[in-house]
Amino acid sequence: MNGNPGTFPRRRASLAAAAAFLTAVLAGVWLGAVSCAGGEKRAAVFLYTDSDPFIASYVEEILRIAGSDLKIERYYARNSQTIQNEQIEEALARRPDIFLVNPVDRLGMYPLIGRLKEENLPVIFFNREPLPRDLELWERSWYVGARAEQSGQLQAAIIASLFGKPGGPAPLDRNGDGRIQAVILKGEQGHQDAEIRTEQVTKSLAAEGYALDILATEVANWNEEQAYRKTAALASRLLGRIELVISNNDAMALGAIRSLKDAGAFADDNGDGRISSLDKSWIPVAGIDGIKDARDMIERGYLAGTVYNDYRTQALAVVSLARSVLGLPPLPAASPEAGPIEGVAGSGSAKYLWVDYTPVRQQ
Ligand code: GAL
Repeated sequence: MNGNPGTFPRRRASLAAAAAFLTAVLAGVWLGAVSCAGGEKRAAVFLYTDSDPFIASYVEEILRIAGSDLKIERYYARNSQTIQNEQIEEALARRPDIFLVNPVDRLGMYPLIGRLKEENLPVIFFNREPLPRDLELWERSWYVGARAEQSGQLQAAIIASLFGKPGGPAPLDRNGDGRIQAVILKGEQGHQDAEIRTEQVTKSLAAEGYALDILATEVANWNEEQAYRKTAALASRLLGRIELVISNNDAMALGAIRSLKDAGAFADDNGDGRISSLDKSWIPVAGIDGIKDARDMIERGYLAGTVYNDYRTQALAVVSLARSVLGLPPLPAASPEAGPIEGVAGSGSAKYLWVDYTPVRQQ
């Protein structure tokens, strides 16, 4: 579930002014509460796993831009909330100035938020969104993320552009039945991005008039290897019928492509020396994230498209917010590629910072 901003006031930052914007949005809300401004500060960053390529790029970016006056310690939880809880207790003993948390179980953050409130320690959650009512518990808690519904809608637009207007000529409708036979690869159950992306991509396509037959929905937990195995099992019974693979992220899309290729798809059927939608065995696969490997696969003609989950701007939002909370000076200059950051209030104070997704397709 996504923290619906409802009727709370919104403000939008201009492209290059992210850091200044954050300072302005947040000033007056709690900067007054920071007891000792300036000097060196320490942040403890908790990650749900060390084997997620999107999260890996996100964390690298946080480290790259943090600034020499903000020291960062990392903890990887191997996908276990129990491990993450132990790590948090261990970190509490070392008393960092701020917690940056990518939860394992985003729905179970109530005790942690209560604990940090007790200790008067600020916390910024990112990428895996806690329940709004848990976040409301502690005024020095925030969430930085991207709106899952937007990524599902943009993914649907990519798919629509591949299939053309409903009812019109559609070479990718391989059996010519006027419908699209699709397979869905889902991220982790209960993750806001898995649930909402899946719902929005299918809803948006239906709203545009596409008739979708979902041949199968497989949960592959964001993971390339799981997607590889699950797609292999599907391909053994459905290859030849699958006209589209909708993946909740790029890692699973890449696993699916590898698997379909092993099963005989993505061959250079027309012998033009390249892989493209003109080859009869080519199957459109759409991902989300825009990680480097996915962009390479777009270049090479395999992946039909992806939606950029702008981890650079999200990392910028996390770091700028952390620095502001800690009373450190703003980053010298926002990165030139940074997108807009939208600040949305919770009940009373700025709670959510949202970053936009953007589509990436084959040229
Ligand atoms: C999503 C991302 C996935 C995965 C997940 C982890 O936003 O698209 O690839 O990294 O977060 O929480």
